[in-house]
Amino acid sequence: MDFEKIAPIIRQSEIFSGLNDKEIISLCSLAEEKEYEATEIIIKQGDEASSFYMIVEGTVDVYKEQKGNFYYIHSLEPKELFGEMALVDDSPRSATVKAKTKVIVISFSRVAFHQYLAISSDAGIKILKIINKRLYNAEKQATREIIRLQDTTIFAMAKLAEGRDPNMGCHLERMREFALLIARAFKERSQRYLYMDNEFLDLLYKCAPLHDIGKIGIPDHILLKPDYLDNEEKQIMRTHTTLGAETLQKASQKPIDNYFLDMAICIALSHHERWDGSGYPQGLKGEDIPLSARIINIADVYDSLTSDRIYRKAFSHEEACKIIKENEESKFDPSILDVFDTIEDDLISIKNRFPD
Ligand SMILES: [Fe+2]
Ligand SMILES: [Fe+2]
Repeated sequence: MDFEKIAPIIRQSEIFSGLNDKEIISLCSLAEEKEYEATEIIIKQGDEASSFYMIVEGTVDVYKEQKGNFYYIHSLEPKELFGEMALVDDSPRSATVKAKTKVIVISFSRVAFHQYLAISSDAGIKILKIINKRLYNAEKQATREIIRLQDTTIFAMAKLAEGRDPNMGCHLERMREFALLIARAFKERSQRYLYMDNEFLDLLYKCAPLHDIGKIGIPDHILLKPDYLDNEEKQIMRTHTTLGAETLQKASQKPIDNYFLDMAICIALSHHERWDGSGYPQGLKGEDIPLSARIINIADVYDSLTSDRIYRKAFSHEEACKIIKENEESKFDPSILDVFDTIEDDLISIKNRFPD
């Protein structure tokens, strides 16, 4: 192994950056230079992990294989490492790494590295600390990615349910923005609900689009009727609250706490309840109506009033606020309604940002 050539390269890598000259030289004695042609597989998912690699020249692509499909994860460039899990455990490779171009790597076998740890324990601890940090960051990144995927799936599901009604346009996009806006303003004004923390706001934003998920069970001739509903049809339409809650309830039957589904169920069930007890499906009154559902209710009514309907034109922002405040005050939580004046500009800008 050419120490003069390898040592400066090794020194550039993050995980070896804390080593002194002597430690680097003894590490070089374990290194092996290898070359791969473009498209050649360097490590294969599921294989035994026995070495880790540092790229000297070229680019590699990392893929995950799941049920016969390959998913591209990312590319790695010179100085970057891959396969470093081989240093800390011997579980099979979690991904496939393929040469994108002609690639030169320096490889270190686990066996040799363990010998190195025995001789230079200080250097070994420095390296393991950095690997630990890298794995922690990678895990955080993966968790963020999973959450992002879940959020996208949930919203897509809600959109699909809402999509049967072509008149709804960007209602769901606006609903989550309105809900967050109202909740934030309310939180700033009132210390009444201590559980109203950032997690609550985040959940409310994600759950808001699911408020009408139960409409998926309402027949087309009622949901899409281009006219006022008769009494019997109204009763069927109202079941979208219980249908939605039941559907989400089925999904939540797990032995773990699921705050997301708990809030989504409250919203689906109670977003048509009224402060004075005249709403449905349970006729809940005042603070018996979950706070999340009270917020969604106001957001929903505001959006409905300011949107065109088959049977009427949209009201202006001013008209809608007047209707909500003067004619329906008994139907909304007055303390939430109080914040409406403070967020008027933002309500209008959300409406403009997501037109139908
Ligand atoms: Fe609804
Ligand atoms: Fe709605």
